[in-house]
Amino acid sequence: MRILVCKDYDEMSQKAAQMISSQVMLKPDCVLGLATGSTPIGMYKKLVQMYQEKMIDLSEVTTFNLDEYLGLSKDNEQSYHYFMQNHLFDHVNVKPRRIHIPNGNTENVDDECNFYDQLIAKSNGIDIQVLGIGNNAHIGFNEPQISFEKGTHVVELDDSTREANARFFETLDEVPKQAITMGTGTILKSRKIMLLASGRAKAKAIYDTVHGHVSPEVPSSILQFHPDTVLILDEEAASLLSEKDYKRL
Ligand code: PGA
Repeated sequence: MRILVCKDYDEMSQKAAQMISSQVMLKPDCVLGLATGSTPIGMYKKLVQMYQEKMIDLSEVTTFNLDEYLGLSKDNEQSYHYFMQNHLFDHVNVKPRRIHIPNGNTENVDDECNFYDQLIAKSNGIDIQVLGIGNNAHIGFNEPQISFEKGTHVVELDDSTREANARFFETLDEVPKQAITMGTGTILKSRKIMLLASGRAKAKAIYDTVHGHVSPEVPSSILQFHPDTVLILDEEAASLLSEKDYKRL
């Protein structure tokens, strides 16, 4: 696991956008695994800027998002479909037919989950997966539990996750209780993983990711077994690590 520490959120976002852009330059028809949440918003802004300055062309890229709330339609402003349109897809040239996000409004959840994993496999797997991390060390919506889930599946969201995400909704009651998420197995199959974290609230989860026992109770700890994972952190998220754990940018 490689760890890069940046001085602040802006630098973290810049570094992350550069990594995505290098991947696209090396392989224009690459498959990107994308994440939602507050953390990657800065990276998406930089990618949009790069696109506007003609420094990146996403016309051949395929994307798969990590997760979606169950029960929200695509045009619901709190859905991750809406988030991705708003922060990235409305502003760049990814072809709509190459954008994939689990359908949270599906009538058959099992089929939707199986279909999603099949689509990823058919696209030859994910070249680089972007991850955020929950305060409880979840990745995607893989919450702490007693076993790792392999494939895309439905999860019951932790109270702490619903409370953390309530800031995007009018009330806590409106935050969905379930979501569809790629499993940790699906995530681990990605050829490269880039996890972003910013702020002191993430410091404990980051420490456990790097130094904790690998356990489904700390879902992100499974990344210790992945051969090509990079953590890009700001100083606050890295504050419980020791200087010898990382490289400073
Ligand atoms: P955040 O969420 O980026 O909004 O902190 C990250 C996550 O829950 O994975």
